[in-house]
Amino acid sequence: MMVVVAAALGVHAPAHAQGAAPAAAPAAPAAGAVDAAAARKLYLTRSCIACHGKDGKKAIQDYPELAGQRADYMVAQVEDILSGKRVGGPDASGNPRAKGMRGALIAPDGARRVTADEVKLISSWLASLEPVKPAAAPTPPAPDKLAAAEKMYVEKCEACHGPKGAAPQEGFPLIAGQKKAYIVAQMTDIKSKARANGQSEAMLPFVAELSDADIDLLATYISAQDPTSK
Ligand code: HEC
Ligand code: HEC
Repeated sequence: MMVVVAAALGVHAPAHAQGAAPAAAPAAPAAGAVDAAAARKLYLTRSCIACHGKDGKKAIQDYPELAGQRADYMVAQVEDILSGKRVGGPDASGNPRAKGMRGALIAPDGARRVTADEVKLISSWLASLEPVKPAAAPTPPAPDKLAAAEKMYVEKCEACHGPKGAAPQEGFPLIAGQKKAYIVAQMTDIKSKARANGQSEAMLPFVAELSDADIDLLATYISAQDPTSK
C-alpha cells in the first residue's frame, strides 16, 4: 500500500530489492541539462541495458534502438508498456512483444521497479545521445524499388515523421535508421491494431491499405536513412 501511494504521488518508493535506488530523488535538472551520470546509472540498475544495449544502441534481437529517440515519445511509451496499454503483436516465441519489458519492470506484486521520474530522466538522457548510424542493407533494393519506396514515403508518411523519417512532428517518433525488423513489426502491429496506444490511431489510415510487400519495402527504405539528417 505504501508503495502504491508513494508511486501515485510520484515519490521515490524504496521498492528496489537490491538497494539500487538512488539515495535521494535527483534534483530537477535545469531546462536542457541532463544529469548524464545519474541517468546512465539508472539505465543500468533498472535493467534497460540488458535489452536496449549500452547507451541505447545495438539493442538485442529486433528490439528498438533508443539513442536519439524523442524524450516525450519515450516517456509516453514506457508508461504505456508499464500500464499494459501497449502490448504489441506476438514475437517469434508467441508472446506479446512488450511482455518481457513489462515483466522486467513490474514486480509480481504490481510494484514498479522504475519510478515515473526515473523514466523521465533516462528518456531525456537517451534523447541527448547520437542515434545509431544505419548499416548498409545486406541486399540493397534495386533503384526502381527504392524510388517507389521514397515516393510512397513522401505521400503517406512524411507529414508526420518528417523528411526521410528524421524530423518527426512534436511527440511523434524518430524512425530513420531504426532496425528494419522493428519497423516492420510496428507497422504491422499498428495496422492490425495489436498496437493501439497513444496516437497510433492517427497513423492507422496510412498503413491500413499497405500490403506486406509495401511494408517491407518502406521499412527497408526508412531503416537505411540517416537519423541525423534534417
Ligand atoms: C526484457 C527486455 C526489456 C527491458 C528490460 C526493457 N525493455 Fe524497453 N522494450 C523492449 C521491447 C521488446 C520493446 C518493444 C516492444 C514492442 O515491440 O511492442 C521495448 C520498447 C521500449 C520503448 C519504446 C521504443 C519505441 O521506439 O517505441 C522504450 C522507450 C523503452 N523500451 C525504454 C526502456 C527503458 C527506459 C527500460 C528500463 C527502465 C526498458 N525499456 C527496459 C524490451 C525491454
Ligand atoms: C498522421 C500521422 C502519421 C502518419 C501519416 C504516419 N505515422 Fe507512423 N506514427 C505516428 C505516431 C503518432 C506514432 C506513434 C504512436 C504512439 O503514440 O504510440 C507512429 C509510429 C510509427 C512507427 C513506430 C515507431 C516506434 O519507434 O515504435 C513506425 C515504424 C511508423 N510510425 C512508420 C510509419 C510509416 C512507414 C508511415 C507511412 C506509411 C507512417 N508511419 C505514417 C504518426 C503517423
